[in-house]
Amino acid sequence: MVAEKARIVIIGAGMAGLTAANKLYTSSVSRDMFELCIVEGGSRIGGRINTSEFGGDRIEMGATWIHGIGGSPIHKIAEETHSLESEQPWECMDGGSDDDVPTTTVAEGGFKVEPSIVDSITDLFNNLMDYARSDGKVSGSQKSLGSFLRQGLEAYWGSMKEQRDEELKGYGNWNRKLVEEAIFTMHENIQRTDTSASDLMNLDYKAESEYRMFPGEEITIAKGYLSVIESLASVLPAGCVQLGRKVSKIEWQNEREDTNSNNNNNGYCCSKPVKLHFGDGSVMSADHVIVTVSLGVLKAAIRHEDSDSGMFCPPLPSFKTEAISRLGFGVVNKLFLQLSQQHDDEEEDELSNGFPYLQMVFHPPDSQFRHKKIPWWMRRTSSLCPIYNNSRVLLSWFAGEEALALETLEDEDIINGVSTTLSSFLCSNHRLCNGNVNSEEISHQHPSEVKISKVLKSKWGTDPLFLGSYSYVAVGSSGDDLDKMAEPLPSSGSLPPLQILFAGEATHRTHYSTTHGAYFSGLREANRLLQHYHCVGIHNNY
Ligand SMILES: Cc1cc2nc3c(=O)[nH]c(=O)nc-3n(C[C@H](O)[C@H](O)[C@H](O)COP(=O)(O)OP(=O)(O)OC[C@H]3O[C@@H](n4cnc5c(N)ncnc54)[C@H](O)[C@@H]3O)c2cc1C
Ligand SMILES: *[C@@H]1O[C@H](CO)[C@@H](O)[C@H](O)[C@H]1NC(C)=O
Ligand SMILES: *[C@@H]1O[C@H](CO)[C@@H](O)[C@H](O)[C@H]1NC(C)=O
Repeated sequence: MVAEKARIVIIGAGMAGLTAANKLYTSSVSRDMFELCIVEGGSRIGGRINTSEFGGDRIEMGATWIHGIGGSPIHKIAEETHSLESEQPWECMDGGSDDDVPTTTVAEGGFKVEPSIVDSITDLFNNLMDYARSDGKVSGSQKSLGSFLRQGLEAYWGSMKEQRDEELKGYGNWNRKLVEEAIFTMHENIQRTDTSASDLMNLDYKAESEYRMFPGEEITIAKGYLSVIESLASVLPAGCVQLGRKVSKIEWQNEREDTNSNNNNNGYCCSKPVKLHFGDGSVMSADHVIVTVSLGVLKAAIRHEDSDSGMFCPPLPSFKTEAISRLGFGVVNKLFLQLSQQHDDEEEDELSNGFPYLQMVFHPPDSQFRHKKIPWWMRRTSSLCPIYNNSRVLLSWFAGEEALALETLEDEDIINGVSTTLSSFLCSNHRLCNGNVNSEEISHQHPSEVKISKVLKSKWGTDPLFLGSYSYVAVGSSGDDLDKMAEPLPSSGSLPPLQILFAGEATHRTHYSTTHGAYFSGLREANRLLQHYHCVGIHNNY
């Protein structure tokens, strides 16, 4: 009897799933050894990589940056496939991130903040972050990154000789301390979008020092992040990736079933141990399943685990479900806005100077000076920037409650909310006006001089295939939980081995939350299977 090929099914055609498939398929030994397919619930490949188009420009709805080009496998693929150059402009944020084009920081009410004030708080914040990233193991006293940062700010103020509540000339209602705190808050809000932790008080301090970053520049991919995904998928045979195949249940064999039931009619001795059920009622069996669905999808899956609607049957062991519940998975969304074309020549001139790379500094929640018409969901937005020099498309990032709210808002409400906000920061024609915006005046004016014609936003929080954006180590969790996420099932050696393997961004201890973390996790699980079969191969003379 000819041995049946082992069947491997990968759930999810995102970075982790496609990397695993690519590795399994391109390892010369394995091509004839496995039957391989990827089942993807959505109608496209890429998962949280979703390169799209808006107002004629290529934009990223999900993953955007290569976080450090030194040693990044994503950078390597992008380079090899010539994806880093493009004739057309792209979302390169050439002014937003660094020194080439200076960002302009404006405080609510239209007060341009002097660079020296911004820089000193920015330096303070960056130093605190560097300290946290190197400290973690040493100092056990800190619980959250949020509390550490606030202590740092207090210590900074404590070390200052001069009065922090001194008047600042030309800053209206703001004094020095209020401006400094608001700039610090702006950096905290950037950190919220970087980590997806809605509240930094819930972001574990120790884990900060385990997180690894690649050295070198951070860049975006000129031909789109999807070009990396397409390159990985291009080697797979036709039909290998099946779209629109949402898995609703994963039946597998573990200890509990083994001891609780004596019947052998679904015994693994005679058929494949894992059975996948799909939304359309169809079923597929497999020897090995690599689960790459997001931590958000796993959290939802275990919420129903005691009922029949649970995704895993039998339910996942408690070491898994506990890690899944403890780890954090937040919502981050991107909002793109297109500025209207102006027909007036004079205004055209004005615009050719470009919309500024604007950083916004807001009054704190308890302040009486808050401009009442700025919606709450705009108040933690740190920047609004053109996606490249002189582009008419602007981008803002949102996290937490604000990001979720954005998903439910009508386009018109978003346009009004952003316009009103901008009218409290800029004068007409996107000019900086240095304190001339008076909140009395705004409320009588038409909401804004800035005309927005169109918006596009991502919806990672409510999309049932993601239920959030990326993972973080929440207070109460730790790097160990990320390792537990990666452990294959079943744990016991007497059962068919490696039935369920786990890959995906949330299974990587030091590179979680990134595309390269997802990539490494896919490689890891492919190698786990390859290693397993090489051993078996030697025994069985394959
Ligand atoms: C707004 C945003 C910005 C980001 N920015 C960056 C960045 O700048 N740099 C960076 O490195 N990373 C960034 N990331 C993170 C990065 O996108 C992810 O870490 C990475 O893409 C995750 O890949 P994955 O394969 O682990 O998961 P996914 O991409 O989520 O792939 C899982 C796949 O499983 C599918 N699926 C889910 N449930 C089922 C089911 N029941 N049946 C079948 N299929 C299912 C999903 O449709 C999905 O395609 C960002 C993410 C977001 C949302
Ligand atoms: C963007 O424009 C600014 C000034 O207009 C210029 O200094 C900068 O080099 C430009 N950046 C790129 C990448 O073209
Ligand atoms: C992916 O991009 C398309 C637009 O190209 C959009 O319709 C879809 O909502 C995006 N997905 C998510 C989860 O944001």
